[in-house]
Amino acid sequence: MSNGRKPYIAGNWKMNLDRARALDLIKTIKGRLGDGSNREVAVFPPSVYLADVAAVAQGSPLGVGGQNIYFEQEGSFTGEISPRMLREVGADRTLIGHSERRHIFGEPDEWMGRKVRLALDGDILPVYCIGETLDERKANRTDRVIKRQLEAGMADVRDSDLRRVTIAYEPVWAIGTGEVASLKQVADAHATIRKWLASHFDKEAAEPVRLLYGGSVSPDNARALFGLEDVDGVLVGGASLKPDTFIPIIEADI
Ligand code: 13P
Repeated sequence: MSNGRKPYIAGNWKMNLDRARALDLIKTIKGRLGDGSNREVAVFPPSVYLADVAAVAQGSPLGVGGQNIYFEQEGSFTGEISPRMLREVGADRTLIGHSERRHIFGEPDEWMGRKVRLALDGDILPVYCIGETLDERKANRTDRVIKRQLEAGMADVRDSDLRRVTIAYEPVWAIGTGEVASLKQVADAHATIRKWLASHFDKEAAEPVRLLYGGSVSPDNARALFGLEDVDGVLVGGASLKPDTFIPIIEADI
């Protein structure tokens, strides 16, 4: 953590909780957050609960986002939602390219640039997720995969957009497995991303982009992750579903 970037702690609720528990959770987080000026906290609930969760979060520093968007604003795209729809129900951000979207639902790299662009155009802050599979890591292809995914997702991003862009590095093999990447693996991947950004954009414009780590983040490992120079925050799955585990991560010494 360095360079004056505000720490960012994000909770991806995935397809979990029910309405009552989602509302309990957001109320508890809101109550514990204070003025939130020294860190940014956001949750990504299932889309059907977004409006209710956003209504509770309103007036607090908590961000609320969608877990995915499509790359058109409207039309015959059954099951999809657009940035404009997210905005309308009180969300201000979205995940894009989460590994579960890529690997369970087959979303291709080619969609990612369009999604990131449409989010930015729709005043929705993108958290663009990238990361290699276990096979790719074993084949020493981690760097190549990360760069390919960055090239796809950032294809239509301009220097002036970068202040609003966040990138989450989530190695697929560390998601939901309890197996957190080693500090060296995280540091190396984040350094690769930083370097890629600095060489593809104006160096100064790329400085504010925050890099989050995701994959089995817990209260036990959050502090060490925050200690890494190029880690500006975390994207938390399972541990974001309960105040007992999410709040200590929010409050891990930053
Ligand atoms: P876990 O924290 O459950 O491993 O999930 C990580 C993740 O996919 C967050 O987007």
